[in-house]
Amino acid sequence: MKFAHDFLFGAATASYQIEGAWDQDGKGPTNWDEFTKIPGKTFEGTNGDVAIDHYNRYQEDIALMAEMGLESYRFSISWARILPTGTGEINQKGIDFYNNIINECLKYGIVPFVTLYHWDLPLPLERKGAWLNRETGEAYLNFAQICFEAFGDRVKNFITFNETFVFCNLGYLAGAHPPGIQNDPKKYFQAIHNVFYTHAQTVIAYKKLNQFGEIGLSHVFSPAFSVDDSEENHFATEHANQFNLNWFYDPILLGKYPEYVVKQLTTEGNVPDWTEAELAVIAEAAPLNDFMGLNYYQPMRVEKIQGYVKEHVITRENSTGSPGNPSYDGVYRTVKMADKKYTKWDWEISSQGFIDGLDNLKALYGDIKLYITENGLGDEDSIIEGEVCDIPRIRYIEEHLSAVKTAISRGIHIKGYYAWSAIDLLSWLNGYKKQYGFIYVDHKNNLKREKKASFHWYKSVITNRGEDL
Ligand code: BG6
Repeated sequence: MKFAHDFLFGAATASYQIEGAWDQDGKGPTNWDEFTKIPGKTFEGTNGDVAIDHYNRYQEDIALMAEMGLESYRFSISWARILPTGTGEINQKGIDFYNNIINECLKYGIVPFVTLYHWDLPLPLERKGAWLNRETGEAYLNFAQICFEAFGDRVKNFITFNETFVFCNLGYLAGAHPPGIQNDPKKYFQAIHNVFYTHAQTVIAYKKLNQFGEIGLSHVFSPAFSVDDSEENHFATEHANQFNLNWFYDPILLGKYPEYVVKQLTTEGNVPDWTEAELAVIAEAAPLNDFMGLNYYQPMRVEKIQGYVKEHVITRENSTGSPGNPSYDGVYRTVKMADKKYTKWDWEISSQGFIDGLDNLKALYGDIKLYITENGLGDEDSIIEGEVCDIPRIRYIEEHLSAVKTAISRGIHIKGYYAWSAIDLLSWLNGYKKQYGFIYVDHKNNLKREKKASFHWYKSVITNRGEDL
């Protein structure tokens, strides 16, 4: 079976992880420009000041993507390039840059898929309370409308927010992302609600413009499975799914928060401050949402915690996606299992978890339109006789693309696949050592680009529309 002619084979990146040029052409500073300079926050103090200098080399990079046969490129817009302080005057050079990116993509017939927020927040908004301050949502809405007006004639796919779970969880529970707050569930749930309300307002505003494009958002997709068949671990798994899946997907797809979680938050005193009017906007936007983007890397294996005491120390190392952490409420922990396969960073490799998770998603939400907006392998690639031989990445993507095929054959409505990442980039907390790209960037040789083995492999997959998978 080949993938349908309108299925998009793509790859993704995000502004802070590739652009560099952190203060070039009028760009304002962001939360990440500041956070990465705090000692100990990132691996070996790496930051995105230069990143892979995509800002100055975008033509070369997009030409390589075109050579690979990419049908769609997902990238994000740096808010502070367009509005240096988050609000106020527009920086024309920021608009020009993204126009250039979009036009360069279109020149090669690559569909631009735009993420409006991939975590880099203009610094003045961060200082005023980031997503806890409702003014951030208002500023975002203005920024989004500027983007729709400037780019919406050529961009027909917008993602409002990337992985609300990750930036809120790491921002307000683990303290590993800005604003670096630890163990504050009240703030965590409030920030999420404020983001979802803003998402809903943005969807409604976009639809009023009649640009005839599509809008949705991308969530991390990490379905939970019990470590065994015991009743208590099944309960813990259902609890984990309620908090990590339903809490995030219900408001977007069904227009309301899940009762189980709301009840629990009421007992804990962690219900966000929300108004009836905000909840009504979330309900109004849900049917207008055109698609859901899923970022799948790994499932969660869950077990119930017995006699939880808050002794868990949160560090940068244990905040980077490997199992072993307890939930904020002490109900369950994630577990590394002896019979599963893991990456060098201890992320489980499981295409079966992907398929099973997709089946569960369909059972919960029905026939929704999905894009896999991220999936890929973080690895330290081998270089053999000057060639980057990223065979494990080929195996990983092969396995997961073939899972997408299986899911489609079961009636799951997946319209595209975006490998993470198009090119090697800065991992937020793991520096440049953890590579994801089809294109290698040589940090010891003036950021020279080189095609990896996976580049040639993905090109052939796209050429024959995945027939051999
Ligand atoms: C996703 C993010 O959570 O995971 C990406 O959307 C990120 O921006 C990717 O790079 C991989 O994470 P990490 O920690 O391995 O770089």
